[in-house]
Amino acid sequence: MAENANPQKSTNTVWHHATVTRGRREQQNKHKSVVMWFTGLSGAGKSTLAHAVEERLHQAGCGTYVLDGDNIRHGLCGDLGFSDKDRKEHIRRIGNVSKLFVEAGVIVLTAFISPFREDRQLVRNMVLHGDFIEVYCRAPLEVCEERDVKGLYKKARAGTIKDFTGISSPYEEPVNPEIVVDTGSEPLEKCVARVMELLNKRGVITPFHLPGEPGQA
Ligand code: ADX
Repeated sequence: MAENANPQKSTNTVWHHATVTRGRREQQNKHKSVVMWFTGLSGAGKSTLAHAVEERLHQAGCGTYVLDGDNIRHGLCGDLGFSDKDRKEHIRRIGNVSKLFVEAGVIVLTAFISPFREDRQLVRNMVLHGDFIEVYCRAPLEVCEERDVKGLYKKARAGTIKDFTGISSPYEEPVNPEIVVDTGSEPLEKCVARVMELLNKRGVITPFHLPGEPGQA
């Protein structure tokens, strides 16, 4: 590796094992904990979808939390910009935070462009096999640019913002994501339903958590 972004500076530390384990938390919560990693261009609808899925899960009694790019960049990653190196460190930190959430028994939903395959793979490797669910929010650049909710594409085209994903910085599509949702063309409700189905199929939640199932409010 050319450069270690995270040199281990904390020496003489000892890992303390919890007695309240992830398994016990999952048992109490009545669902498994996973990382749902929403990736896609700015304006693809990652945050909207992540929050809508969270809303559904919360209503079904699940423990959830959304980590959102714009929000995290105000605090934990406020010192990082949008160079390749900074994005890498950003995703590494989020990966570690996500891992903690999984240990806490929570379904964590992350909404970051996370444009580089290598960085997403790094997070996938941080957690146990099956704990990482990559949700590719697929929306063509033209659609995102047309939406331009935050007016940033316009600024990127004008050159006021540099290293802008899709314009002056690359986005590497997932090769083998667990699910692809066409957030550029499909209605939100349909995307939510597809994600919920996947969670059910993978045994993260049970049919009880899905609307319309017997016993479900
Ligand atoms: S990531 O690439 O490092 O994963 P992240 O999801 O945290 O990005 O933040 C993306 C958000 O930051 C965008 O939705 C947009 O609002 C804002 N932003 C500001 N500058 C840029 C830029 N150069 N490229 C992409 N997004 C940017």
